[in-house]
Amino acid sequence: MTSQSDATRLALIKQLADGAFHSGEHLSELLGISRAAISKHCRALAELGVEIFSVKGKGYRLAQPLQLLELSEMRRYLPAMYDFPIEIVNIIDSTNDYIKQADKRSNGMAVLAEAQTAGRGRQGRRWVSPFGASIYLSMCWQFSQGYEAISGLSLAVGVALIDALQASGIQGAQVKWPNDIYLDGKKVAGILVEVEGQMGGQCECVIGIGVNINLRSEQPDIDQPWTDLRAHADADINRNQIAVNLLNALTRILQEFEQHGLTNLQSQWQQHDIFYGRTVNLISGSQVITGTAKGIDHRGGLLLEVDGEVKTYFGGEISVRPA
Ligand code: BTN
Repeated sequence: MTSQSDATRLALIKQLADGAFHSGEHLSELLGISRAAISKHCRALAELGVEIFSVKGKGYRLAQPLQLLELSEMRRYLPAMYDFPIEIVNIIDSTNDYIKQADKRSNGMAVLAEAQTAGRGRQGRRWVSPFGASIYLSMCWQFSQGYEAISGLSLAVGVALIDALQASGIQGAQVKWPNDIYLDGKKVAGILVEVEGQMGGQCECVIGIGVNINLRSEQPDIDQPWTDLRAHADADINRNQIAVNLLNALTRILQEFEQHGLTNLQSQWQQHDIFYGRTVNLISGSQVITGTAKGIDHRGGLLLEVDGEVKTYFGGEISVRPA
């Protein structure tokens, strides 16, 4: 998309964000484009997952009001000493890729997007990323001690997510090893950590987080039970405030992790472990190991009691299912 049409679509969605009807004539005057162009941009927004109704004689309106991410709004909630750079991009392929391709990356730099056209999940999956419906956030973090120091990083990020949700008034979130976040037994958020660097030298991590906020009820592209924060919140969800709570929790926990690894986070992770004490199947390729989940060790490995003996398991392809 050209940056011009990107800017026009952002201006259009800002007008429609209140959820009320806006006539094509009024929108075309306001944005300085034809009514046919308004209709074309509305179709493009619909392709990005925005639900827009068009009613003859009334104009266009969103299925429900939308709160856009705004740096000025976020700054209202950020502590004064928060001094990591934050960027909001409108529509992007993937916020993780945006950071990876940045000419200059700095520790703690964060990018948030309204929509991703090629959002990525773990194990090569796609991350469904409709416009304005979730949080898509990536943060860069540099570890001077190299690869050895980042074992368990994604579990630490899971703890940060639980903290951020609690600060946003969402109680009862749970972690599923290695790094899914569940609410009411369904996935609500995911973490994708990508690492660049050399053995022994500094390594740079791009930490990507997707949190479902207000998804349409039918999502044919999501292949597992899912939920969103809207379904669990008493009041309206403030996306800017949730984004700030995430940034705060992430930077705090990453600083802690950098100093002490998982040592001080291990018990917090375990308190929220969805499978703790339950019989689970650990599936790695064609191998299935059945045991009792006993939490994690200090490097983030899964502890599983099999035939009376507790063993540690690692590995990206391993997944845990209730037996
Ligand atoms: C998973 O559970 O599979 C991980 C999902 C991670 C999604 C986030 S959204 C922001 C960042 N950009 C991406 O392309 N992916 C991550």
